[in-house]
Amino acid sequence: MWAHVWGFLYSNYFRFWLKWILRLLTGKCELQRLLGGAEAGARRTLSVGNGGAGAGAARLSRKRRVLRNAVHVEEAEVEKCVRDVMKEKNIEQKDTGFKTNLHISLLQISGYKKLYLNVENLRKVPYDSENEEHEEQLIELWNLLMPQETLRSRISKQWCDIGFQGDDPKTDFRGMGLLGLVNLVYFSKHYTNEARQILSRSNHPKLGYSYAIVGINLTEMAYSLLKNGALKAHLYNMVSGLPQLEHFHQFYCKHEVVEVVFADLYFIFFTGYLVYEFDKFWFEEEPESIMHFNHYREKFHEKIKGLLLDYNVVLTLQD
Ligand SMILES: *[C@@H]1O[C@H](CO)[C@@H](O)[C@H](O)[C@H]1NC(C)=O
Repeated sequence: MWAHVWGFLYSNYFRFWLKWILRLLTGKCELQRLLGGAEAGARRTLSVGNGGAGAGAARLSRKRRVLRNAVHVEEAEVEKCVRDVMKEKNIEQKDTGFKTNLHISLLQISGYKKLYLNVENLRKVPYDSENEEHEEQLIELWNLLMPQETLRSRISKQWCDIGFQGDDPKTDFRGMGLLGLVNLVYFSKHYTNEARQILSRSNHPKLGYSYAIVGINLTEMAYSLLKNGALKAHLYNMVSGLPQLEHFHQFYCKHEVVEVVFADLYFIFFTGYLVYEFDKFWFEEEPESIMHFNHYREKFHEKIKGLLLDYNVVLTLQD
């Protein structure tokens, strides 16, 4: 009860005066203090994101609305939006430090949303064995993981050797659709040695598990962390600068050039990180059998959520 009253007073009243006093003392507005501070990366962008979404809609001032619009801005409009915010807040345009920092933060916020949309779009595409490109990716996965062994036919018990359930992987992607396949392929492509090593460990006689199935399952874990915002700090720290050319990665997919925003790869690598760490975790915990997967998955999930709470978090395979 009191917490509610205090919360109400704080957000509607004290906060305003507090900011006003601070502004008098420092001659700067809240946003300037946020962006002028030494903290880079996630902490800064997360504060900008919250600053824009904090106030109740009914009490939104015009200035607040400018900032609120700013955190929903599209990448192409970021520059104009930065100018608007600075004008509204009476910040001199020549304050380039503020300008650059706000620019980066808004790009990160819009980048995260775009990443989620890309990932969601890929997830919604079901695996289709009539589609040549889907089939090619599946075969590529086999070739990356099993270079010394040729797949004797498209429908084959051999698929079980890389951890699918039956003789046709198409049914194993379920709720993750093409996202599950793309994650497995990209991880094997960029971290070939690690992927093969984990695959061979997954064949352990006692502690073994199904590599592909678990990989698809961990794709769902990464997806849910992205969806509920838990990956923000990690990704803001990873993609901390202005996007430059190298933040775009082009690859040729048969007839068309597909442009992947680098953040998409960071998501794929995050799933790779989960696969890598889950394997370590699984062998450390020594579960009695795969029947206990649920329990250990949840335990692992909690561990990862804990790590992601740190503002300075960067989770990569190299660690
Ligand atoms: C992953 O595993 C959990 C626990 O067994 C299960 O509830 C979930 O449906 C699985 N997800 C996928 C995509 O297989």
